Amino acid sequence: PLVPPLVIAVDGPAASGKGTIAKALARHYALPFMDTGKLYRACGLAVRLAGHDPYDADAATRAARTIDTALLSDPDLMSSLNSDYASIVSSHPAVRAALFETQRAFAQAPGGAVLDGRDIGTVIAPDAPAKLFVTAAPLVRAARRHAELMNRGADQPLADVLADIEARDARDSGRSAAPLTRAADAALLDTSDLGIDAAVGQAIRLVEEALARR
Ligand code: DC
Repeated sequence: PLVPPLVIAVDGPAASGKGTIAKALARHYALPFMDTGKLYRACGLAVRLAGHDPYDADAATRAARTIDTALLSDPDLMSSLNSDYASIVSSHPAVRAALFETQRAFAQAPGGAVLDGRDIGTVIAPDAPAKLFVTAAPLVRAARRHAELMNRGADQPLADVLADIEARDARDSGRSAAPLTRAADAALLDTSDLGIDAAVGQAIRLVEEALARR
C-alpha cells in the first residue's frame, strides 16, 4: 500500500490511563481499537465461573482456547476480584499463546489498529510504528481506580485498592512470559499530573513524533 498501516501499541500498568488514551487515539486516527486486557479478563472469569483455580494452567488454557464472547460484556468483567483472576491466568504461557492469534490478526488489519495491553509493543506488534508506554504514580492510579469503583457502587478503602494495584503490578511485571515492560522504542507518557485532555494531547503529539521518524 502507498500508506503503510498505522499500528499504535499502548502498554502500561493498571489504571495508568492507557485505555482512555488508546480509545481516544483510535477515534482521532479513525482506527479499530482492541482492549486486550478484556481477553485475559474473559479467560479469568470463565475459570472463576467454572470453579477452577486460576493457578491451574490446564484449566486456564482450556478457557482461553474457548473464550465465550458473551463474557466480554459481563458486568463482573472489570471487578477487582476478576482483575486478580485475569492477572493470574495471564501468567501462563499457554494462555498467552492461545490468545496471541486473535490479537495479532487484529493488529494486522490493512488500515492499522490501536491495541492496549501489557505486551503489545514487545510481543503482539513489535513492528508497530508508534508505541506508547503509559504510566502514573501508584497512588495516583489507586485514586483513579478507587473513584471508578465508587462510581460503580463498590466502596473499597483506598489503601486496599493501592495494595491490589501494587500486587498486580508485581505479578504483571515479574512473570517470565511476556512481562509488562517498556519496549526500547516506546515513548514514555507519565499521566500522574495530567487530566484526560492533556494526556490525550500529549499522546497524539508523541504518535506524530514517532510517525515523523518512521
Ligand atoms: O488491562 P487490564 O488491567 O484490563 O488487564 C487485566 C490483566 O490482564 C492484567 O493484570 C494482565 C493481563 N494482561 C496481559 O497480561 N497482557 C495484555 N496484553 C493485557 C492484559
